[in-house]
Amino acid sequence: MTQAQAKYLKDYQAPPFTIETIDLDVNLDGKNTLVKAVSKVKRTSNHANPLVLDGESLTLVSVVIDGQAAVYHESEGHLTIATGLDEFELSIITQLDPEANSSLEGLYMSDGAYCTQCEAEGFRRITYFLDRPDVLAKYTVRIEADKLAFPFLLSNGNLIDKGELDGGRHYVRWQDPFPKPAYLFALVAGDFDLLQDEFITRSHRKVVLQVFVDKGNLHKAHHAMASLKKSMAWDESRFDLEYDLDIYMIVAVDFFNMGAMENKGLNIFNTKYVLADTLTATDDDYHGIESVVGHEYFHNWTGNRVTCRDWFQLSLKEGLTVFRDQEFSSDLDSRAVNRIHAIKVIKNQQFAEDSGPMSHPIRPESVIEMNNFYTVTVYNKGAEVIRMMHTLLGETHFQAGMKLYFKRHDGQAVTCDDFVAAMEDASGIDLTQFRFWYSQAGTPMVTASDSFDAASGRYQLTLKQTLAGCLSPLHIPFSLELLDEKGLSLVNQVLNFIEAEQVFTFEGLNHKPVASLLQDFSAPVKLHYPFEVDQLVHLMRFASSEVARWEASVTLVSQAIWQNVEHLQQHQTMTLDERVKDSFKGALLDEKLDQALKAEILAIPSASALVEQTDTVDLDALALAREFVLTELAAYCEDELTALYRSLVNLDCTKARALKNQCLNWLSRVSSDAETFVVEQFEKANNMTDSLGALSAANTGSLTCRDHLMAQFETRWRDTPLVMDKWFMLQATHDSDDVIDKLRQLQQHSSFSMGNPNRVRSLIGSFAAGNIYQFHRIDGQGYEFLTECLINLNQLNPQVAARMVTPLIQFSKFDETRQSKIKACLTRLLDLPGLSKDLFEKVSKALAQ
Ligand code: TRP
Ligand code: ZN
Repeated sequence: MTQAQAKYLKDYQAPPFTIETIDLDVNLDGKNTLVKAVSKVKRTSNHANPLVLDGESLTLVSVVIDGQAAVYHESEGHLTIATGLDEFELSIITQLDPEANSSLEGLYMSDGAYCTQCEAEGFRRITYFLDRPDVLAKYTVRIEADKLAFPFLLSNGNLIDKGELDGGRHYVRWQDPFPKPAYLFALVAGDFDLLQDEFITRSHRKVVLQVFVDKGNLHKAHHAMASLKKSMAWDESRFDLEYDLDIYMIVAVDFFNMGAMENKGLNIFNTKYVLADTLTATDDDYHGIESVVGHEYFHNWTGNRVTCRDWFQLSLKEGLTVFRDQEFSSDLDSRAVNRIHAIKVIKNQQFAEDSGPMSHPIRPESVIEMNNFYTVTVYNKGAEVIRMMHTLLGETHFQAGMKLYFKRHDGQAVTCDDFVAAMEDASGIDLTQFRFWYSQAGTPMVTASDSFDAASGRYQLTLKQTLAGCLSPLHIPFSLELLDEKGLSLVNQVLNFIEAEQVFTFEGLNHKPVASLLQDFSAPVKLHYPFEVDQLVHLMRFASSEVARWEASVTLVSQAIWQNVEHLQQHQTMTLDERVKDSFKGALLDEKLDQALKAEILAIPSASALVEQTDTVDLDALALAREFVLTELAAYCEDELTALYRSLVNLDCTKARALKNQCLNWLSRVSSDAETFVVEQFEKANNMTDSLGALSAANTGSLTCRDHLMAQFETRWRDTPLVMDKWFMLQATHDSDDVIDKLRQLQQHSSFSMGNPNRVRSLIGSFAAGNIYQFHRIDGQGYEFLTECLINLNQLNPQVAARMVTPLIQFSKFDETRQSKIKACLTRLLDLPGLSKDLFEKVSKALAQ
C-alpha cells in the first residue's frame, strides 16, 4: 500500500486557511446526486501557499473562485487550488453515488433512506473541504429530493425554509447558528415514523424533541425519548449545562458502523441503541440505550461546543463524555454495578489492547487511519483518567474546573492539555505529574507488600509502580481501606502514590489489618499482592465498598482456577478449597446483599477475562480448570441456587431477573431440573431478558432442549433483525466442534447480510471475540474462518473489518503453534491486493511485533 502514511501529533500546524461559512446544496438523486458547496475562505497568515482541500471517492464537476473558473489540480485525496487571494468565495460541485457506498462513511443509503456519517474524516467524501476539526464553519444546508420517497429532509440546526418543486420534488433549508467542524455535519432524507415530545429547560426555553424510526416501530421509540429527557435534566442538575438549540433530533438507522453519532442537533443512531420494547429488548439493551442516548446528548457540550484541535486529542471529548455518561448511569441507578461494568471493560479489553500491537496512550502520537483510534484506550481508559482527576479534586473542584474550561474555550477547538490546565487552575492542585497519564502507553503495574509490627502496632504498606518505557512515575490515586479482624473499618482514604516506591505507615493498630487495595479501581493499573484465601473471604464479607467485595470474589475464584491450571500441568488432580465454596455459598445466601451485585458475583470471569490476568496461557488447561471450578461451585450450592431461582421466578424487576438468570446459568451445569427450568422459563417469558436467559443457559449447558428452543426462537423472530442478532450471537458463541460449519451456513441465512455491521458483529465478531475455545482451535480453523470474512469485508466496509481483526492481532499470550497459525493468516491479509489502510495499520503492526 502506497498511501499508508502515518501522521504525527508533533507535526501539528494551525490551518493555513479558514472557512467561516459554508452553504451546501444537496440534490439527492440516486447516482446523480449533486453537492454544491459555496464557502467563504480566508488566508490565516502571510503565506503564498495554494489552498489544499481534502477529498475522497468524489467526482469533481467544477471549481469556481469569485465567479471565475479556478486553476486547480486534483490528486489522490487532495484538491490543490492556486490562488493569491486572501479572501474569496469558493464554489465546488461534486457528484456522488450514495447507493454504491458500502463503507457507511460520507453520504450513503440505509434501507431506502439517505444518511451521513462524517466523523472522523467522512465529510471529504461529500465535498472537497478543509476536513479537520480545528476549522469551524457556520453551515446552511439546502436539501432537495423526491417528496414521496423522502418526505423528511433533515440537517443540523433550525429549519428556515421549505417548499414544493416541480416533478414531485421538494426542498428544505436548515441553518445551524453554531460554528462547527465538518465531522459534526449531518443530513438525513427518508420516510419515518416520528415520535415527538418537548423539554423545558431550566431557563424556561422550550425544546422540541424528535425521534425518527423506521415505519412501524413507533412503539419502540419511547424508551429512547424518555432517556433523552432524563439526560437533559441530569446535565442541568449535575453539570449546570443547558441545551442550546430549539430542536433536538435522533434518527435511528439500520446500517451504522458504530453505536451513535453526536452531530449537532441531529444525532444519528444505530437502531440497536434506540428501538426497544419488553418483548424484543433485554434489560441490558434498555440500559445500553439510556447510556448511549446520554452519551450523545452530553457531547453537545463536551465535543460540540468545545471540540478537538486535532484527532490526536480525541480523548478530550470521548474520555470526558464517557465519564459523564457513566456518572449519569450511576446517579440514575446502581453506582456499584455500573462501576463493575466499567472495570470489566478496562481489565478485559483495554488491558488486552495495551499488551497488543495497537497499544497507544489515551492521546496517541501517530496514526495511519483515524478510524482505528476509536478505541477502549481513548474512550474507556480516557474516562478513567478523567475519573482520577475527579478523585483527586473532589466534585466541587472538578465542577469548578468544568466551568472554567467552558468559560475559556466555548466555541473553540482545543487540546487535552487545555482541559487539564482548567482543572489545575480552578482547583489549585498541581497536575504536572498527572499529565503523564496522557502520554504514556501501556498498563502500569503496582506491586503491594505489607508488614505489621505487633509490638509497636505499626502497619506498613509498600507500593511499587513500574511501567515499561516510563521514565517518570505516575500520579496514582490509590484508594485503601483497612479492616480489623471483626470487619470494622479502621482506615478509608485515597493515598497520593507519586513515587516509584513509596511506604505508607499506619500507627496504633492491635492486629494486622486486612487491606482492601485499589478500592473502586481508583486507577487503571494492574495490582499485584499475594492475597491469602482468608483475606479474600474477609474482604468479600466486610469491605465497605460493594465493588471491593465483588473484586475480592473475582480474585478468589481466579486464584482457584489458576491453581488448578498448575495442578493440571503437573498432572495432579484438581481441587477446590472449602473456604472458596463456603464464601460463594455465603454470598448466595446473604440477604443483605443487593441482588444485582449478587448476580455480578455469580458471573464468574470468562475465559478471555482470565487470559488477561496472565502473560502466557495454556488455553486447554485453563478451559478444564475453569469448568472444574464452576461445576464444583454449582454442585456445592445446588440446593441454594434452586431455592433462590424458584424465589425469583415471578418477580418483575431488573435485578431479580439478572440474578435469576445467573442462577439458571449455574444450574444448567449440574442440576437435573435445569431442562425443566429452562423450558418453562422460555415458554412463559413475556420479556426478552427471560427468553434470552433461558436460551443462553441452554447454550452454556448444551442442554438437550437447546436446538428445539433455538428453532422456535428463529421462527418467531425471523423478521426482527435486532432480535435475530441475539440468535446469531448465541449460535456463534456455542462451544461446539461444528460451530464453524454452522457459521458458514448461517452466512447464507435470509436474515444475514455482510453489508450490515450489526449482523456481521453478532455472527462473526461475537465468534472471534466471545467463543475463545473455538476461535483458538488448535487446528487453526477459527483463524481461517475469520480471515476469509475479513477478506470479504475489506472491500465492503474497511472500518468494520479493522474492528473485527482485534482478536487475531492479540496473540502474544498464546502458544507457538497457535501463534504461527495466526501469523500465517495475518500474512495472507497483508498480501491482499487492495488492502485498506484500516486493516493495513493493524495487520502490519501485529506482524512487526
Ligand atoms: N463520536 C461517536 C461517539 O462517540 C462515535 C463515532 C466515531 C462514530 N466515528 C464514528 C459513530 C463512525 C459511527 C460511525 O458517540
Ligand atoms: Zn462519543
